[in-house]
Amino acid sequence: MKKMVLLLLPVLFFLVAYSLRTYKSSEKVTIENHQKDTHVRIDPNCASCFEKYIEKVINEGSNIFHYPSGPMPGGTVSSEDANKIAAFLATLQGFKPSHPEWVQEGKYLFYGNCIGCHSNGGKGQKGYFPDLTRKPLKGIEMLSQKGYGTIEKRQR
Ligand code: HEC
Repeated sequence: MKKMVLLLLPVLFFLVAYSLRTYKSSEKVTIENHQKDTHVRIDPNCASCFEKYIEKVINEGSNIFHYPSGPMPGGTVSSEDANKIAAFLATLQGFKPSHPEWVQEGKYLFYGNCIGCHSNGGKGQKGYFPDLTRKPLKGIEMLSQKGYGTIEKRQR
């Protein structure tokens, strides 16, 4: 009986360790608050990851570059509008947006809400406001180099 228990112990240990591991790696596949968690790799060639990143930045703001212009404030447009702007910005990168029908409205929204800082065409201003036509985006490049795992692809 004692022998049985001793034999089972390592098995139990591995089971617990394994489930902890899978639990942890499933945590890494999201970009929940990318300002704090830089340990996330975003595939720079994934269009839906790009859109997701943009939506995240618009909804929650961004504070990864430490420019003298300060962080970008989040929530300045609704999350529906954020999705449309993301579709437009995807086209600037040569990505096929997941909702092509949003591109035109996204463009208007971008010109109405974003070019004050990111300037006409989204080119930004070096050292102050990031260039949103750069491929990959600087932020995506930083996140893709630092971490491991990928963000989950959007199901629409
Ligand atoms: C008040 C000025 C300001 C406005 C308005 C603004 N941004 Fe920004 N944006 C910034 C700054 C500053 C950063 C860099 C912040 C940082 O340090 O992470 C930034 C970063 C970004 C990034 C990340 C770029 C990268 O390389 O990863 C995206 C995407 C972005 N902005 C999109 C938008 C969109 C879309 C809008 C319109 C809804 C918008 N911004 C409006 C100032 C602004």
